[in-house]
Amino acid sequence: MQILLCESAEQVGARAADIIEARIRRGPAVLGLATGSSPRTTYLELIRRHREEQLSFSQVRAFTLDEYAGLPAEHEQSYWSTIRRELVDHVDLPLEHLFTPRGDAPNLRGEAQRYDAAIVSAGGVDVQILGIGANGHIGFNEPTSSLESRTRVKTLAGATREDNARFFPEGNVPRLCLTQGLGTIREARWAVLVAMGSNKANAVRAMVEGPVSAHCPASVLQLHPQAVVILDPAAAADLTLLDYYREAQELNEQLLSYR
Ligand code: F6R
Repeated sequence: MQILLCESAEQVGARAADIIEARIRRGPAVLGLATGSSPRTTYLELIRRHREEQLSFSQVRAFTLDEYAGLPAEHEQSYWSTIRRELVDHVDLPLEHLFTPRGDAPNLRGEAQRYDAAIVSAGGVDVQILGIGANGHIGFNEPTSSLESRTRVKTLAGATREDNARFFPEGNVPRLCLTQGLGTIREARWAVLVAMGSNKANAVRAMVEGPVSAHCPASVLQLHPQAVVILDPAAAADLTLLDYYREAQELNEQLLSYR
């Protein structure tokens, strides 16, 4: 696991965008996209590079991490609508290359299996962008999710529903969701997790320095061969080996600049 310590949320976004851009410029790519506040600076930076530096998404296919059950795609708070608003509608990614599980599918279990299979038949995800919940979830894999799980229907934790209540002013936060499983996420070739803010510091420490445990689902990234965790100072504040991460980061950057 590589830890990148940044000065600001904007810098977090720029570092994550560097990894995505490097992959996109190599040829057709499959991206895994998180929604929520964490990847916003990443998406803003990608949009800027699209507008100002000819970064094209025309050869990109994108799979969202999750979707609320019960919401049709057109609902303002569906992850289909959210990812369009925050990224897809501002770049040249063809809409038919954007995939989300259908939250209003009549057979949610079947829909989850279909979605998991669609990711596999697309050749798997090249770069998966992730945020982390204050309770350690990635995607909507809440604590006690199986580390081997596939895309499936999950019950949202009370804490997650409270965190996301800000998007549902009428108080009708969905109780169920469809989410890529931890086993599905682990198959992405790169896992890039971005976190900012002091409310993530505990979860970040458990993910990076705690045991690999279903109690902190994000800790499964310790088993991933190419996981990069990009943090602002507040999200990194509880890490105990900060000096070591800083030194490793400096040496890595020197090595990269020799190439
Ligand atoms: C969203 C997702 C979630 C969020 C997490 C953090 O697609 O998969 O795991 O990344 O809940 O949410 P924010 O970034 O809003 O703090």
